[in-house]
Amino acid sequence: MKKLALVVAFGFALAGCGKHEKPNFNYMPDMHFSPAIKAQEGIQRLPVAGTIPRGYEPYPYQNLDPVQAGKLHINPLPRTKQALLRGQQLFNTYCIVCHGPYGEGDGYVVPKYPRPPSLQSDKVKNYADGSIYNVITLGQNLMSSYASQVAPQDRWAIIHYIRALQKAKNPTPDDLKYVEKRTQDLAR
Ligand code: HEC
Repeated sequence: MKKLALVVAFGFALAGCGKHEKPNFNYMPDMHFSPAIKAQEGIQRLPVAGTIPRGYEPYPYQNLDPVQAGKLHINPLPRTKQALLRGQQLFNTYCIVCHGPYGEGDGYVVPKYPRPPSLQSDKVKNYADGSIYNVITLGQNLMSSYASQVAPQDRWAIIHYIRALQKAKNPTPDDLKYVEKRTQDLAR
């Protein structure tokens, strides 16, 4: 009897070894063969062909030079306080990690990620808004497109904010007069 018990135990032990490509003997198959469906398998509905998201504006260029783009697209968004605040929020969400708080290329991921060129450069200062729009929409070399993350109106808002950052670093005498007046008004 003892021998038999040993053989049986050994048999079980062996049964547990080897590759498990096929399940072993199913002695309680309760939920073993449940008709599992992978998440979203078969139930995901694709949008009808030609569907576009609300507010979608086609950008019919794959490869457009920023300078050229600057001549084609004019910022349609008025530079209001609301637009600037929106631009600030989005810049700080999507761009600051690489470009840094003032766009100087000192974002948190640098230098693990290659340092981007400064947005305070004469090149970008002299860019028309449409040129920056083009970079955000199509990407440029190492920088990928942000078209799917940032809606068109929001791209224009970010551009207003980049202009504000440029002004903040290089105020004109007129800007300074405004700041002085604001300070006096607030002190009253
Ligand atoms: C993952 C890092 C990263 C993020 C995030 C990022 N950029 Fe860039 N950006 C770069 C790099 C790198 C370049 C330089 C690409 C090249 O070599 O031409 C660049 C280039 C640019 C340029 C062109 C500068 C020039 O001198 O040609 C603009 C404008 C710009 N980015 C704006 C933005 C804006 C606006 C956002 C947010 C919507 C953003 N970037 C997000 C990395 C990033």
